[in-house]
Amino acid sequence: MRENESLRRSLRDQHPIAAAEEVGDEMADWEARASSDGLHKSDAASYPESSMDKMQEHWERVYGSKALDQVSWFRPHLETSLALIQRAAPSLSAAIIDVGGGASTLVDDLLARGYGGITVLDVSNTALELARGRLGLRSQDVHWLAADITKADLPDRAFDVWHDRAVFHFLTKGEERLEYVRRVASAVKPGGHVIIGTFGPGGPSKCSGLDVVRYDAASLHREFGSRFRLVHSSEELHHTPSGSTPQFLYCDCVLEQ
Ligand SMILES: C[S@@+](CC[C@H](N)C(=O)[O-])C[C@H]1O[C@@H](n2cnc3c(N)ncnc32)[C@H](O)[C@@H]1O
Repeated sequence: MRENESLRRSLRDQHPIAAAEEVGDEMADWEARASSDGLHKSDAASYPESSMDKMQEHWERVYGSKALDQVSWFRPHLETSLALIQRAAPSLSAAIIDVGGGASTLVDDLLARGYGGITVLDVSNTALELARGRLGLRSQDVHWLAADITKADLPDRAFDVWHDRAVFHFLTKGEERLEYVRRVASAVKPGGHVIIGTFGPGGPSKCSGLDVVRYDAASLHREFGSRFRLVHSSEELHHTPSGSTPQFLYCDCVLEQ
């Protein structure tokens, strides 16, 4: 992705410190809302394997056409994620990556708590620009990466905490999940935490019009394997702006030393 490279370059220029560490459905109701997420019916399916550009286009269209507080995954604050991150990383110097962070306010809340080593990665440039615009000057304290997480080039053993809310569940193909887990295993420090939020077993089968895989704690843990020790799992009903309550699962695993 040439744009990613130029974004990374401009971030490097603006961010000497970050540069030094360069990191580098329910159902019918839910699906009806997919179209209100700015989608056309023909988009409401998982994309063919080769069309990652379409996947990116999908997310650019969503972020370009919907108010941030109207997308189905919106919450004013990601309270559960924040609590899990704070428990996993009591030190404010912890290196934290929010994978598929989109335009969520998690980064704002982490900055407000004093965390200094935050990276936000998303496949949508539009989402990252929205978050950066909202943060203003404070955005300079964050390392932004526009990339597809199944292809991203991340540094080894760089992160104390890997956070992902509602991204891994879009990986419906085994190879994509393998690429994802490979990156977690290399980019997270031994002893570091991997906090993942997906739709739970009682959750919808689609999100933003795309097919998702639903997990319980055991099946999600299986995707990551025995190198990851499950230390916490919980379920939550998320109240969407349109009033439905999809079930989420959160797991926190520690990467064994
Ligand atoms: C349902 S939204 C969740 C956003 C945010 N995590 C939250 O909880 O508010 C999914 C996000 O993942 C991003 N995304 C989807 N597939 C991705 C991929 N393969 N690599 C990186 N980001 C991805 C989308 O652009 C979008 O911002």
